[in-house]
Amino acid sequence: MSEKVIIVQGNKTLKGSVTVSGAKNSALKLMAASILGQGESVIHNVPAISDIDVMGDVIQHLGAKLSRDGHDIRIDTAVLDTLETPYELVSKMRASIAVLGPLIGRFGHARVAMPGGCQIGARKIDMHLVGLEALGVEFAIDHGYLEARTPKGLHGALVTLEFPSVGATENLLMAAVAAKGNTTIENAAREPEIVDLAGMLNSMGARISGAGNATIEVEGVALDSFHPCEHTTVGDRIEAGTFLAGAAAAGGPVTVNNIDPNFLRMAIMKLEAMGASVSIGDKSVTVSREGPLAATDIQTLPHPGFPTDLQAQFMLLAALANGNTIITENIFENRFMFTSELVRMGADITIEGHHALVRGVKDLQGAPVSCTDLRAGAALVLAGIVAEGETQVHNIEHIGRGYEDYVGKLCSLGADVRSVPADGGHV
Ligand code: EPZ
Repeated sequence: MSEKVIIVQGNKTLKGSVTVSGAKNSALKLMAASILGQGESVIHNVPAISDIDVMGDVIQHLGAKLSRDGHDIRIDTAVLDTLETPYELVSKMRASIAVLGPLIGRFGHARVAMPGGCQIGARKIDMHLVGLEALGVEFAIDHGYLEARTPKGLHGALVTLEFPSVGATENLLMAAVAAKGNTTIENAAREPEIVDLAGMLNSMGARISGAGNATIEVEGVALDSFHPCEHTTVGDRIEAGTFLAGAAAAGGPVTVNNIDPNFLRMAIMKLEAMGASVSIGDKSVTVSREGPLAATDIQTLPHPGFPTDLQAQFMLLAALANGNTIITENIFENRFMFTSELVRMGADITIEGHHALVRGVKDLQGAPVSCTDLRAGAALVLAGIVAEGETQVHNIEHIGRGYEDYVGKLCSLGADVRSVPADGGHV
């Protein structure tokens, strides 16, 4: 398939309402958790994005049967014929490492290709390994593969995470639920996606309490008490925050539906500090902005702190704000790469290590730009919507990894955005 670019016409506003899809960063792990169900589980509200396709390939490679009907996925894991996840799949999507925990939980053994880093950082998994070793897992590295075994069985333990890693918390949960004895995870990640995963695991027979807090308790249960379940993925708070940032940039009002506003408290606080008006519904948030954007510093932190996955989108708001903003990226070591693309559109941004000094400018000019990761890509399209003139966004496969029909949803809000073959052909 030829490379495509997204062409954006500038000086547009965004108005109307959009329904966000299920959360990518939950659905991927819910699919992995179905391994513990040992039968056919059904997961609803799964987003139609390429990362889900890759996780489907991983699950089917293990031998599970998978079928999709729109946003519903049926996964039958009664019979798995390999415990190995190959390099070509893990290298496509590092979240494939999420099968490690459930494979160990069910079989006491797994062989998963070591995930590489990516554009935004090294993405190490040392905390996954240290935590699982506390549960009795022994690891060996064999030609780039992680060989996990439990010669003395999987047992409960007190695990204190050095950092509230989302992935490490998830892998630990999916192993500990089937361990002999109880596990306490201290300094656990508190993201809403963790709560969603714990909810599905409990529907399968697990006994988890405290998910969403810094300490999670797991009472290990025998494997034969696990059963398949039906579960609905929570709404994607990062997709929602992306559209809300777009509304603050372009004017609004924009309402995002199918999202729990409690997932976005910090982002909402920052939108209000920057001069946007925000109103909250039961399962919706509406944002509009009349006056100028105001500068306000931002620090990315583990949930409930400001989400790193909204850093790029809010960098755009800072670039157009009255005054100077300092944005500090505390989660990933290389997540400012996209700022050079914004600078090419006229932004005034200086990077010093983990800090970006953003001096607000009156407006941005459309330009050819390139996505470095999915969130930066989404932010560059928003930048094109408010810039003067036309913007061509390249490497848009990044966006398709995590945003279902991003172009269509933006057009439904009044944007003039279209995806065309890079060689200039028109669809
Ligand atoms: C999840 O990544 C999300 N991805 C990321 O979203 C998100 O940015 C991140 O959590 C933080 O919220 C998925 O859920 C698929 P971490 P994850 O383990 O689990 C370091 C997006 O845009 N670390 O909390 O990999 C790590 O390198 C993506 O949707 C270790 O050093 O995040 C990173 O710097 C991007 N050792 C930091 O901790 C470890 O063992 C946070 O990682 C684990 C992590």
